[in-house]
Amino acid sequence: MSGTLTFLGLESSCDDTAAAVVRHGPAGAQILSSVVAGQEALHAAFGGVVPEIAARAHAERIDLVAEQALAQAGLGLGDLDGIAVTAGPGLIGGVLAAVMCAKGLAAATGLPLVGVNHLAGHALTPRLTDALAFPYLVLLVSGGHCQFLRVEGAESFRRRGGTIDDAPGEAFDKTAKLLGLPQPGGPAVESEAASGDPRRFAFPRPLLDRPGCDLSFSGLKTALLRARDGLVAQKGGITLQDRRDLCAGFQAAVADVLAEKSARALASSPGISAFAVAGGVAANAAIRDRLVQVAARAGVPFLAPPLRLCTDNAAMIAWAGIERFRLGHTDDATLPARPRWPLDAAAPALLGSGKKGAKA
Ligand code: KG4
Ligand code: ZN
Repeated sequence: MSGTLTFLGLESSCDDTAAAVVRHGPAGAQILSSVVAGQEALHAAFGGVVPEIAARAHAERIDLVAEQALAQAGLGLGDLDGIAVTAGPGLIGGVLAAVMCAKGLAAATGLPLVGVNHLAGHALTPRLTDALAFPYLVLLVSGGHCQFLRVEGAESFRRRGGTIDDAPGEAFDKTAKLLGLPQPGGPAVESEAASGDPRRFAFPRPLLDRPGCDLSFSGLKTALLRARDGLVAQKGGITLQDRRDLCAGFQAAVADVLAEKSARALASSPGISAFAVAGGVAANAAIRDRLVQVAARAGVPFLAPPLRLCTDNAAMIAWAGIERFRLGHTDDATLPARPRWPLDAAAPALLGSGKKGAKA
């Protein structure tokens, strides 16, 4: 389907209630608005996302956020060509909020409804930002996801590997918690690591001894806990320098694992246009630097979309909806909300689920 399309996207699968308007035409793609209402404060006291609290907050906010996105784009419902919504995977109570809102809007306006896989939203973002050509390799690395996907088309994804337990962002968050640092843990651990010695503690590099691109991060967190407890048993507590060194050692281990597995994923993905990264952990400069090096060594361009489009947002959902719609796909009022929805149905199930709910 050619011509200009303008889609409203809705997202509520985790702890961000988001709406965005994206337009795509002969001149390329344009994000007309993107509104994200986070829920960090609501979950802060619990050390993780509480599904019931998240679902309630999404239900309260999704229509307001959609109104804001339309107002910021200067458009009304009548200016749209379709409504895209995350239909999974994620926390089911949350996913339902946006799915019900989208169905209501589609029923009231007669606009086409397009259900989108949240992971497809992340994986297709490099096409929204940079019009990247298929096929390319993407590493999704956040608090809830960690997988390599060879993106061959808007509906064609081959998983090259993924975490069998925690996601790296989750490991950063747990590390911060264990060391008395604020949440989200990633930025706090990264800033401590900057003045730490990455070689003082010998943390494991899980699964590097095994072939393939699967990853594991839960053992790393246990190793960190042991190292901390060892210091406490030895001298009754940890110093600020101990904490910096623990953070540096942990971050170096995560970076090493991601770099080595990325190199393997690139080696098993010939003919790609680029290596792209998405997800909150992509904000980590040390990790990003390593990925840049790995891509350069493989002779493949590296691409990291701006951070606001790497983390959860609805522009990626509107965009993935446009891509699906151009392939002729629409959904109707029977569109289900799915807690699990692997992008690559042919790949074996991964064991991990992540703190933010079952992902794939
Ligand atoms: O993509 P995102 O906003 O949300 C989902 O998980 O879907 O990612 C958030 C995760 C958190 O676990 C956070 O600690 C991590 O990304 N993160 C970082 C950094 N900034 C955010 N991890 C490492 N270094 C960072 N600078
Ligand atoms: Zn996400």
